[in-house]
Amino acid sequence: MALAGSAIGLGNIWRFPYMVGQHGGAAFIIIYILCSIIIALPVFFAESLLGKTTGSDTIGALKKTVPDSPLMAEGGLAVLAAFVIVSFYSVVGGWSFDYFIRSCTGSFQGLQITEASQTFKAMTDSVWQPLGSLAVFLSLSGIIVAAGVDKGIGLFSKVMMPVLFIMILLIVIRSVSLPGASAGIEYLVKPDFSKIDGRAIADALGQSFFSLSLGVGCVLTYSSYMRKEENVFYSGIWTAIFDTVFAVLAGFAIMPAVFAAGLPAAAGPSLVYETLPVIFSQMGPVVPFLFFLAILIAALTSSISMMEVCVAWMVDQKKFRRGTATLCICCLAFILGCACALFPKVFNTCDFLTSNVFMMIGSFVFVIVVAWKLPKVDVRTQFTNYGTSKAAKVAFPVVWFSIKWLCPIAIVAIAITNLL
Ligand code: TRP
Repeated sequence: MALAGSAIGLGNIWRFPYMVGQHGGAAFIIIYILCSIIIALPVFFAESLLGKTTGSDTIGALKKTVPDSPLMAEGGLAVLAAFVIVSFYSVVGGWSFDYFIRSCTGSFQGLQITEASQTFKAMTDSVWQPLGSLAVFLSLSGIIVAAGVDKGIGLFSKVMMPVLFIMILLIVIRSVSLPGASAGIEYLVKPDFSKIDGRAIADALGQSFFSLSLGVGCVLTYSSYMRKEENVFYSGIWTAIFDTVFAVLAGFAIMPAVFAAGLPAAAGPSLVYETLPVIFSQMGPVVPFLFFLAILIAALTSSISMMEVCVAWMVDQKKFRRGTATLCICCLAFILGCACALFPKVFNTCDFLTSNVFMMIGSFVFVIVVAWKLPKVDVRTQFTNYGTSKAAKVAFPVVWFSIKWLCPIAIVAIAITNLL
């Protein structure tokens, strides 16, 4: 549940639907699912195996597997990347907190599109409002992380993930039953491959990495807390299934409503914060409340996973106490988060650097270490839980081929496409 919590987040509810809107609907979803199965899932297995076998944080795991190799430097980069992501991610998390409070006070009732844009602009342009919500969001994440791996992160994810599913299902039911919703449903199920180009494929692959939280040590750190009998293969498959189903559900919660209201599907990043409040305002006060609460919970279960990467490093390697480490990370993330909230340039640079550079380098190093530095028999033994998992045994040759060849090639290819 914690891995699913890390995976399911703003990436699913905010980023995925607007990318689907920008790249023409169903065809993008199909490409996204293929990328997740063929490339992202094997990378997930590799990262998870490294964590489970070593039982360490990111830097410790690389120290144990590739000591004295330049690949070790990735450990530091991963912790830095997790820190940068949690800083700007919390800014968007803060917006969802802000919108959640607004939905509680019923301020979306009767909203028009121009007013919604103004509200969003006024919020992001103001100085204190985003900083205040950023502070609240980081504090909430900090409290959960400080409470510990089992009692904080594990418990919160176990309780909240099922709640999240129920909430999103309720919104889907409401959204697809609106008059005029069928055009939106058609958009999501009838593929039009003429809209797919190299950019769309690179975006789909990048999105599948972002959505599965790959390349910065989140999967590695969480997997280091797995018990011996737990299975990397099954937890990976379940996380990917939950994550993908959730992203598609978010699409079905949003697109039919967008089409029913006759608003543009390709609105981009503002889709959730400008377009949706208008639509939801016509659906009664409960739907916006449920939706923004869902985004807030999803964002929290993800931000704690990034914070945990940094905290685990400080606790394991630098011998800090858990509470002190969490407080330090929250304060530092608040400083960078303020810069991201106030200066869009800083925000965009952090987003670009992490998704297009850091996550790619991280994923590349993790697959290279597993497929090229560790003995194949050891990887097989771990992957199949000492030969006890039949399904993992059957899947191993395919997964191995993907980790060894497909993943590194695909990562380099999209890194180049992204930087061009
Ligand atoms: N996967 C999360 C989402 O979809 C975000 C996330 C959590 C993430 N941990 C990450 C993204 C690590 C990149 C790297 O919202």
